Amino acid sequence: MKILFIGDIVGSIGREALESYLPRLKRKYAPDVVIANGENAAAGRGITKSIYQDLLFMGVDMVTMGNHTWDQKEIFDFIDEADYLIRPANFSEEAPGRGMATVTKNGKTLSVINLHGRVFLPAHDDPFKMADELIEEAKQISPLVFVDFHAEATSEKIAMGWHLDGRASAVVGTHTHVQTADARVLPGGTAYISDVGMTGPYDEILGMKKDAVLYRFKTNMPARFEVPKSGRSVVSGFFTEIDDNTGKALGCERIYINEDYPFQA
Ligand SMILES: [Fe+2]
Ligand SMILES: [Fe+2]
Repeated sequence: MKILFIGDIVGSIGREALESYLPRLKRKYAPDVVIANGENAAAGRGITKSIYQDLLFMGVDMVTMGNHTWDQKEIFDFIDEADYLIRPANFSEEAPGRGMATVTKNGKTLSVINLHGRVFLPAHDDPFKMADELIEEAKQISPLVFVDFHAEATSEKIAMGWHLDGRASAVVGTHTHVQTADARVLPGGTAYISDVGMTGPYDEILGMKKDAVLYRFKTNMPARFEVPKSGRSVVSGFFTEIDDNTGKALGCERIYINEDYPFQA
């Protein structure tokens, strides 16, 4: 199974960049499944039902979330019916929605798991223990298991990579919006990258207008963070091919497209 993952989609610039590049990425990589992190898809904060549906229409098969899951309150109205939208599994047991879901393509079923880190982020349940439980459950269905670990610290993400090496087909980090250059297949057969990076504004600060962020850094005064509506974009992604029988990764690479690193067909 070939899997294409798209890092945190930020605002309309991110959605438009994905719409423009996804057909080209599909021609190049011929993925069976496309997964995208949508926690910032609605103007940087959360996701709406119509944006979720637009992403599916564009060709995304599964949407993962993160610390911004609940920012758009309408999510409470549709998350339980959204078959292809998952939020971190180690949120409270009271939280609506699910932390794992499956997608079947070309006769193969992939389980996708979303987890949330605990370092420099609000504390949730233990993501390592939750990963153990869900992987066991997923393995009853198929050996193909993909994990989006939404976390701040590279150390915690690398720890998760090693924790799941040989048990998950892939572990990718999201949340920092900055791609790391450490894509590789770990010795046990797990494709890994510490952070995929974001798909959104290229000339700002993590997707937010840089003037407001700079003002806050320089003055320690509150400022309103906004996603710009126009400007150059970056598309960040990760591609991996998994052996259907063993569930182990055969290879992986990071994808980074912008005016400085143009798309290579
Ligand atoms: Fe994000
Ligand atoms: Fe995040």
